Amino acid sequence: MSKQFDVVVIGAGPGGYIAAIRAAQLGFNTACIEGWKNPKGEMALGGTCLNVGCIPSKALLQSSEHVEQIEHKFADHGISAGGVKVDLAKMQSRKDGIVSKMTKGIEFLFRKNKVTWLKGFGKFVSGGDSYTIEIANGDAKETVTAKYVIVATGSKARHLPGITVDNVNICDNEGALAFGAVPKRLGVIGAGVIGLELGSVWRRLGAEVTVLEALPAFLGACDESIAKEAWKVFTKEQSLNIKLGVKIEKVTSKKTGITIDYTDDKGLAQKLECDKLIVSVGRVPNTDGLGASNVGLKVTERGFIEVDDHCKTNLPNVYAIGDVVRGPMLAHKAEDEGVAVAETLAGQKPHIDFNTIPWIIYTSPEVAWVGKTEQQCKAEGIAVKTGQFPFMANGRALGQGEAGGFVKIIADAATDRILGGHVIHAHASELIQELVTAMEFKAASEDIARIVHGHPTLSEAVKEAALAVDKRTLNM
Ligand code: FAD
Ligand code: NAI
Repeated sequence: MSKQFDVVVIGAGPGGYIAAIRAAQLGFNTACIEGWKNPKGEMALGGTCLNVGCIPSKALLQSSEHVEQIEHKFADHGISAGGVKVDLAKMQSRKDGIVSKMTKGIEFLFRKNKVTWLKGFGKFVSGGDSYTIEIANGDAKETVTAKYVIVATGSKARHLPGITVDNVNICDNEGALAFGAVPKRLGVIGAGVIGLELGSVWRRLGAEVTVLEALPAFLGACDESIAKEAWKVFTKEQSLNIKLGVKIEKVTSKKTGITIDYTDDKGLAQKLECDKLIVSVGRVPNTDGLGASNVGLKVTERGFIEVDDHCKTNLPNVYAIGDVVRGPMLAHKAEDEGVAVAETLAGQKPHIDFNTIPWIIYTSPEVAWVGKTEQQCKAEGIAVKTGQFPFMANGRALGQGEAGGFVKIIADAATDRILGGHVIHAHASELIQELVTAMEFKAASEDIARIVHGHPTLSEAVKEAALAVDKRTLNM
């Protein structure tokens, strides 16, 4: 007889594992299906985020930023350090150690919360009053039944037709996080989040990096002023070679290297020769093999599971969360949807404000934003006031030697309610959270301007940007 559960979660990325823990906390007999295998061949929880996404990329970003600091920034502090050596194998094993610690941490959390880990890949077999799901682990198969199912199967890298990703020379995120040597010449297709973050890692470690982007605009989702500043820093100060408006024609991989034939923004034929290539052109949802059609689960043409604002699918008692559904492909969005669904099953009325989900690009400087850009407000016919404050005028930033960048706040011209917050700075990822909290509480820019901010802190720049909305900065 099949094991029976109240809740079965399919996928243990940040969406699925958090949903499972919250469901168990709320008293449901919960299982989570996951069959991810790490490079050692061991099954691991944590999904893309912990294994080949957020966590390993941030570990390498930090290590490579230390190299950048020693080589280019410490001299300004009167510190010289000659003979800097990078032990890439050690850097990679540090990263792997962090991944292992974090993924094993979820196993501990599952035991603590009495979540059963069903090892393998899950597939809907049949529906009705309860759902039957088959779990395949190699040749071994078992079936379980569940009253409620939460699909959290995440996403995988999108590949381009005619370009074979072998994850040795032509890589998606998985191979690009695991290079055993710093490539001399690195090509990147796609100047999105992964292209910029991983391009930065390998540039800081010594690679000559060229990024080929199809769109004519750089960082189109950002406020234009931030994108302009980021462009200046990345291309002029950090020599990331970014080419916009290109069309990739052909990629040829030989023993001697990779050749990318492309047409540039003027329509001229160009060639890029490189030793490794990263293809980072977005991600696609994981719904293959899920057995959606066995139960009539609606999937869009692009493979996303169709859900409403509460992550409810077309089937009774089946929900879907995270990268496999609409909305930004971000770990914190997946997590919060997981919590909300578990609480919905328990009869609670949770709410996620999709307008206050922060975006952060962990380059140096970091780029972070929440809410609307000034251009979006204009397009939507919303009259706004904006306030901007540079870190150049912030004492803490000067002390840190991180005086580049600024904070920009966009407020409704009539009500002063904050509609968007944008930060470009070495520590933008932490600073944005004040603006997220403010927007979640429907704050006005005046609210932030009247809050006491510790001195000297970077957050004083957020306060000053709020004061700037009313044209009354104090320190500029
Ligand atoms: P996933 O993390 O993709 O997990 C889905 C899990 O489901 C996987 O483990 C998969 O094996 C499993 N699965 C799939 N099908 C089945 C099945 N049939 N049965 C059982 N299990 C199944 N986001 C951020 O917010 N911040 C960042 O800094 C960040 N950095 C990133 C860096 C990189 C290089 C990449 C690639 C992504 C990054 N992301 C980041 C995005 C983030 O990783 C995803 O948004 C997040 O992992 C989505 O969570 P999820 O739970 O929906 O799916
Ligand atoms: P992306 O959507 O951020 O960027 C892809 C880029 O590739 C776009 O600029 C697009 O115009 C370009 N592109 C698409 N097709 C192309 C082509 N044929 N030729 C040249 N350029 C092309 O996708 P990316 O970087 O792959 O990341 C995937 C997702 O993972 C992100 O959207 C984000 O949701 C998540 N992520 C989040 C991070 C964070 O929060 N810090 C870090 C890394 C990834």
